[in-house]
Amino acid sequence: MTTVNDLRPHPLDQIHRLIEPGPVILVTTRHRGIPNVMTNGFNMMVRHVPPLIAGTIGPWDHSYRALTETGECVISIPTADLAATVVDIGNCSGADVDKFERFGLTAVPGEKVRAPLVAECFANIECKVADSTLVAPYHLFLLEPVRAWTDPAHPEPQLFHHRGDGTFTLDGPTIDLKSRMAKWQYLL
Ligand SMILES: Cc1cc2nc3c(=O)[nH]c(=O)nc-3n(C[C@H](O)[C@H](O)[C@H](O)COP(=O)(O)O)c2cc1C
Repeated sequence: MTTVNDLRPHPLDQIHRLIEPGPVILVTTRHRGIPNVMTNGFNMMVRHVPPLIAGTIGPWDHSYRALTETGECVISIPTADLAATVVDIGNCSGADVDKFERFGLTAVPGEKVRAPLVAECFANIECKVADSTLVAPYHLFLLEPVRAWTDPAHPEPQLFHHRGDGTFTLDGPTIDLKSRMAKWQYLL
């Protein structure tokens, strides 16, 4: 029988490397008229319908202030070919640079929020802050999607996931287990 003596202790401060969250996304905001974009790896779906997304954005980020003050953002989902640019976006601040200009991104006006969509991303989800009670203790924003867009030019987008240490996993092959989702047919 396996006991913990057969296992290797894993440091608690490295847990995020075991259970990586959602794909790497971009979060755009518009603060005092100026658009900005940040990179975010700590995010997850919370609810199907009506949809709810949780994302951690720290107070060290310019985006934190923008999101706190405006209550609006866009979640832009990049494909793997943009991975290096997305990492670079997460290594500088909108407090210092115009990241749309620096990284050659195209800001597209949305319909429901003032934060811009990113034309280079395969999907853009316009969001409003639904609940900020977890922001103070955990920097966790609960975001309600109010409009969403996908680009038909990306029929099979390949997303990428941060493994927590500067390495990334790209989406791989898809397997179809729909026939086993007996209890969850309404999701299919
Ligand atoms: C791969 C990657 C993932 C990141 N994930 C997060 C995250 O989940 N939450 C966060 O607050 N910052 C995250 N960051 C850091 C921000 O993107 C970074 O602090 C950025 O410079 C903030 O930009 P801003 O000051 O313009 O808002 C990540 C950076 C990288 C490179």
